[in-house]
Amino acid sequence: MGENLEKLKTHLRKISKFENALSLLHWDLETYMPRNASEKRAEIIGEIAGYTFKEFTSDKTFELLLKAENEAQTTEDKALIRVTKKEFEKSKKIPPELFIEFQIESSKAQNAWQLAKKEDDFNLFKPHLEKIVNLSKEIAEHLGYEENRYDALLDNYEPGLNTKDLLNMLPSLRNFLINLLEKIENSTRPKKDILIGKFEVKKQKILSEFILKKLNFDFNSGRLDLSEHPFTITISHNDVRITTKYDERDIRKGIFGTIHECGHALYEMGIPEKLRGLPIGNGASMGIHESQSRFWENIIGRSYNFWKYFYPKLTEIFPHFSNISLEEFWRSINTVEKSLVRVEADEVTYNLHIMLRFEIEEGLINDKIKVSDLPEMWNQKMKEYLGITPKSYKEGVLQDIHWALGSFGYFPSYMLGNLYAAQIYYSLLKDLENIDEKIENGEFIEILNWLREKIHSKGKIYEPQELISQISGEKLNPNYFIDYLNLKYKKIYNL
Ligand code: CO
Repeated sequence: MGENLEKLKTHLRKISKFENALSLLHWDLETYMPRNASEKRAEIIGEIAGYTFKEFTSDKTFELLLKAENEAQTTEDKALIRVTKKEFEKSKKIPPELFIEFQIESSKAQNAWQLAKKEDDFNLFKPHLEKIVNLSKEIAEHLGYEENRYDALLDNYEPGLNTKDLLNMLPSLRNFLINLLEKIENSTRPKKDILIGKFEVKKQKILSEFILKKLNFDFNSGRLDLSEHPFTITISHNDVRITTKYDERDIRKGIFGTIHECGHALYEMGIPEKLRGLPIGNGASMGIHESQSRFWENIIGRSYNFWKYFYPKLTEIFPHFSNISLEEFWRSINTVEKSLVRVEADEVTYNLHIMLRFEIEEGLINDKIKVSDLPEMWNQKMKEYLGITPKSYKEGVLQDIHWALGSFGYFPSYMLGNLYAAQIYYSLLKDLENIDEKIENGEFIEILNWLREKIHSKGKIYEPQELISQISGEKLNPNYFIDYLNLKYKKIYNL
């Protein structure tokens, strides 16, 4: 291997060690940090993050990139140059003053959003959101785009995907979902209340750990802890941590939250050592990352066969379920209903929540919608897509933190994750035999090894559309998701 390429890798790996330290500080902040430490902790994180950013955007990185470029021969090394160069150029395009202003305004906006949500008053958030939208537009202008300003922001989360492609995909998917929802609404509903009761946290923890072990989450290279909002974070090689949140009343949150984060963690645990510490040692995109969590949470974790294996364990831990049939339980965990809140939405309605947000933010970034129009637009789309109208701002336009963070372009990742997951699942069914039998016997290693080979081992070497084409022979195609839902919910609701 070329000498300069080697030097570049050493340089990047050195920088990544500061990122490792930042990850640990973040993890601690979300889990065990004493509350009074928050101000100082933010200062420490800011200092180290600033230093890391400076090192990455330094002349040294630029010189090494230039020298190493000609030495890259393998797909992997070429990808390393391409991804590093792109990240380097992006960070150079935004003027430092603009970056700092954005940081300050977004931190103010987060506080305002919290207060506005608490007081249920959109006007408290409105001026801050206006600033954030304007700054985001400005950032998009600096980043550059070909035809749609939103492309510049979407690219931060889903490289290679265009706003136009995404917009074209929506109408047929939306019609399908609205139709399916309508049919489900008119059929006999499963009893959801059997999932509500008193479920001791201690026992839920035992169940979560049991499931994680069975799914091949490696406790020697990871941890499970508690936090307000579940997340996955990679500290370094062999140290991938997830969190969950148990609800004493509702058993679903702990179980499916844990499986969701496990899916993210298995992806991270499967990134090969040789890619670690390099810009290609991450997931391919936010959408592909979310596909891994949704695959395990919904396609596997909410399947009948999965519970055929786990139901005896569940009833052993919570004898309450011994009076309820497996069939009934399975139907209940797949209840579909019109709801106001995204994070509580089921597989069928979830993407409708995302479409609404995507359409609104795309409109904001392209000056088609004004911030002052938001509450009305939100309610109108809710009515149109889900047939319900929020009675408050906190259950409506103020429910998510994303816009306060200035994360425009992020929301589509959730939808893309669901779509990719189904497409990946259909490819897996073609490649592996007797999947249902394996799941029902609690054997998940073959599925995981397949995901490792096709996705995890590739890190960020390929852009998402290339990766999904390699796996399935075609680019992103929502019809797989449509087929998957059709088949599953026909059975559950006898449609
Ligand atoms: Co996720």
